[in-house]
Amino acid sequence: MIQRSQLDLRKFVAPEFVCGHGALQLAGRYARNLGMKQVLLVTDPGVRAAGWAEAVGESLTEAGISFTVFDSISVNPRSRQVMSGKEVYLSEECTGIVAVGGGSPMDCAKGIGIASSNMQDILAFEGVDRVPVPAPPLICIPTTAGSSADVSQFAIITDEERKRKIAIVSKALVPDISLLDPEPLTTMPRDLTVDTGMDTLSHAIEAYVSNASSPMTDVHALEAIRLVRSALPAALEEPEDLNLRFSTLLASLHAGLAFSNASLGAVHAMAHSLGGAYDLAHGRCNALLLEHVIAANYEAAADRYDRIGAILGNGPDERTPPAEGVAAFRKTLGITETLAEIGVREDAIPALAHGAYADPCMVTNPRNLACEDIERIYEHAL
Ligand SMILES: [Fe+2]
Repeated sequence: MIQRSQLDLRKFVAPEFVCGHGALQLAGRYARNLGMKQVLLVTDPGVRAAGWAEAVGESLTEAGISFTVFDSISVNPRSRQVMSGKEVYLSEECTGIVAVGGGSPMDCAKGIGIASSNMQDILAFEGVDRVPVPAPPLICIPTTAGSSADVSQFAIITDEERKRKIAIVSKALVPDISLLDPEPLTTMPRDLTVDTGMDTLSHAIEAYVSNASSPMTDVHALEAIRLVRSALPAALEEPEDLNLRFSTLLASLHAGLAFSNASLGAVHAMAHSLGGAYDLAHGRCNALLLEHVIAANYEAAADRYDRIGAILGNGPDERTPPAEGVAAFRKTLGITETLAEIGVREDAIPALAHGAYADPCMVTNPRNLACEDIERIYEHAL
């Protein structure tokens, strides 16, 4: 059991952010305020096809700012993609970055920023507080509601050589400003809405039970869980409803403020290992691991998990065990598969567990897990 005290020293880092309908159109104004003259507009082909990169580009043009688009980014952004973006940033003599997209473009943009300012390979920054030189100005405009890269001090990059994701955690990765507009969310396909929503839920739950949680992060974590529970299923039913989409965006914002400052736990450590080895969607990995990690962690933070169960349950009198509540919730969203069904093999588990054990997110898990414990959790999820 972890002994927490509200007198424990904690700090809270957050970017400036503007949220509401039309926030995206403020990109040009804020880029000018930040002194950007030549922008690297970082996005991906899907976001570009949906028209959101073009909309941001128009805002920059109206403000008299020229830009170069960099969209050679995949799901689970690769270290090589970051380094290609850095080359473009430097060759175009850019003075700032605007990222528009989900977690992949935003994480890649963060990576391009610190690789450019430090003139170093992105893999050199793995771990906590290992970025010596601050990044150039960065504006984030999320088009999904889940990664919270728009408010967090995290970037997750795939090391292609070692087939694993590295976590970079630094204040240098907090954007200068984030523009949170519900409209881009309306073009998200159903699966992406589900996966990013489960990422939000995982952020909030892991931050709430983290051994670095605090009263400041608790309030955001609990509100995020409440909002996901109430708004995500409804947003799937009415994907073009701006109010529902905005509630999912708020959930992501709250969860991001919580986990950026309280860090995460075994779900993310294990999802990073899984996503790096199999190139799977991050939110889906979390969704398939979350209830099994809760079951393994429960005794180490029982009161906190019970509170989560009460929010996920069906009413004030009906107490739902948290692992069961999460399992029931993901099933209502249509996530019914197992790790084996998405291609994970039993003989891969020792290596996956080894990777998860070394992930920085494991440090704040409420229970100390040995490699063998992590293997058992993967086995349960298989
Ligand atoms: Fe995540």
